[in-house]
Amino acid sequence: MIFSERIKSMQFSPIRKLMPYANDAVLKGKKVFRLNIGQPDIETPELFFKSIANFKETVLKYTNSQGMDILIDSFIKYYKEWDINFEKDEILITNGGSEALLFAMMAICDIDDEIIIPEPFYTNYNGFSEAAGVKVVPFLTKAEDGFHLPKKEEILKKITPKTKAILISNPGNPTGVVYTYYEIRMLSDIAKERDIYLIADEVYREFIYDNLKYTSALYMTDILDRVILIDSISKRYSACGARIGLVASKNKELINQILKLCQSRLCVPTLEQVGAASLINTPKEYFSRVTKEYENRRNILYDNLSVIPGVICEKPTGAFYVIVKLPIEDAEHFSKWMLTDFEYDNKTVMVAPAEGFYATPSLGKNEIRISYCINSNELKEAMMILSKGLEKYKSIF
Ligand SMILES: Cc1ncc(COP(=O)(O)O)c(C=O)c1O
Repeated sequence: MIFSERIKSMQFSPIRKLMPYANDAVLKGKKVFRLNIGQPDIETPELFFKSIANFKETVLKYTNSQGMDILIDSFIKYYKEWDINFEKDEILITNGGSEALLFAMMAICDIDDEIIIPEPFYTNYNGFSEAAGVKVVPFLTKAEDGFHLPKKEEILKKITPKTKAILISNPGNPTGVVYTYYEIRMLSDIAKERDIYLIADEVYREFIYDNLKYTSALYMTDILDRVILIDSISKRYSACGARIGLVASKNKELINQILKLCQSRLCVPTLEQVGAASLINTPKEYFSRVTKEYENRRNILYDNLSVIPGVICEKPTGAFYVIVKLPIEDAEHFSKWMLTDFEYDNKTVMVAPAEGFYATPSLGKNEIRISYCINSNELKEAMMILSKGLEKYKSIF
């Protein structure tokens, strides 16, 4: 059988590829702490389910390809609270931020065009760019700099005539970095000077710790025609399964072009749009409670990780991930071994090997990404088990 070069070049998600081993471990009766995936455990606001229960139409129809008016209006209201002004024809509802990313790439890149991305980066950026025939050109950010951006000259070196955009996740997955105003300003200057887009993936906008101030790419008023916003309710409202996201830009012509892609897939699920539209009425207290919870977990995770011998990590300031350097050679082998061969009190830990978050071969080989989407007590126990696992692994390999 013949498969396309495109599909063959795509990788299996490093976040999910150890899943069969985890499932096997569970079948054998082990408890597995799942630190591999950014699936929040916080309850989705009840409003979401209530509004779907109150949906009284007798036919479940297609909606507009750009998304339901009530949902777009609710996002316009949401952005106003962040001092960002969007109009109706500047937002397209998508199947999660994932589809928004794919559509953005397809709309601005031809085959073999390039997008530059600070690495390590959200691993599915690889998947979307391979599907769109786009080349990812990484520039390195380092744990010792808290994964902040390198100097402008380093980034400029990566730009070629084929570069169409810079793509950032802010706050960062998998690094937890929150970029400063000056970093976003620098990227905006580059976009302006080199006539390229800035794709700003801001799906973790609410998850900022240590009282840091957030700078959206949309605060850079002089480059609004080249900012493409990727957003989603998945993390903000702990609603990953709803698959509701959006692509937005003040560049109306770009949005009009992307609308063709939206039309070709007809629409986003109706009921989920109804549920999502109600989320604008979520009390503000929800966000302060959730952010406090994640900040507390971040502290617990960091405190427990940094005392494990040989482990190196920087304290993240946003999102709910941390990249951790382990005192071993092959983090993928270790992560698999933790599921297949290790248990402590019949429990083990599942993490994501970090190599798949890098585009440069051989980087991240001894690193893992941990997500802190389990409660504090479990997190403490999981760190203890990770520590025991490392100790045993080092004694064997
Ligand atoms: C940085 C980033 N962008 C986009 C997404 C896609 O999210 P969704 O498609 O659920 O909206 C994720 C999911 O983990 C993410 O971490």
